[in-house]
Amino acid sequence: MHRLELLTKAHDRDGFDRGSEPLNLFLRQTARQHAERGISRTFVLVNETAVPPKPILGFFSLNICQVKSESLTPSEAKRLPRDVSGVRLGRLAVAKACQRQSIGKLLLVAAMGKFMGIFNAAGGIGLFVDAKDQPAARYYEQFGFVSLPSNDLELFLPVKTIQEALTQHA
Ligand SMILES: CC(C)(COP(=O)(O)OP(=O)(O)OC[C@H]1O[C@@H](n2cnc3c(N)ncnc32)[C@H](O)[C@@H]1OP(=O)(O)O)[C@@H](O)C(=O)NCCC(=O)NCCS
Repeated sequence: MHRLELLTKAHDRDGFDRGSEPLNLFLRQTARQHAERGISRTFVLVNETAVPPKPILGFFSLNICQVKSESLTPSEAKRLPRDVSGVRLGRLAVAKACQRQSIGKLLLVAAMGKFMGIFNAAGGIGLFVDAKDQPAARYYEQFGFVSLPSNDLELFLPVKTIQEALTQHA
């Protein structure tokens, strides 16, 4: 069984390999500093029985973001004020050895659950993500993310879709 935890020193950050140096470096050097300063939070997936240094199977980061409603599709922008808040999925990565085992999907569902905690406490129109390339954008689209009209690598998952997805996974 897997467990989602906030990134701490108990996790083997150096051992994580996604095959992408910027993502590896983010996890090794930046993620904890950002958490301490309130810039973002990083959550890691580990095996329930893992002992420190716990191998990281995958991770994601979240931060609060501000968006202009005019950047959304007209139907989404309808009835919204000009400036709205959301949550940005800053990073999502699965260890190279664990890819194609639905861990990415599990992490996305977990990120949606974290979003709902923020939504219930402070609102927010949904999750935003910057896909690094077209295949990554296609990956997110499977889960209901839609590209913004101005940039097809920036995608949005509205709160309604998140609520429906979580009902299906309950
Ligand atoms: C993208 C990523 C997070 C997917 O995680 P994963 O655990 O391997 O994916 P899942 O097992 O949840 O995949 C579910 C389905 O998504 C699709 N998929 C998986 N990886 C994909 C990719 N890289 N591109 C497009 N579609 C992909 C497949 O249809 C897959 O189903 P299948 O295995 O039955 O064919 C992972 O490959 C990764 O870390 N990639 C590098 C970093 C990255 O691209 N991050 C996201 C964009 S910024």
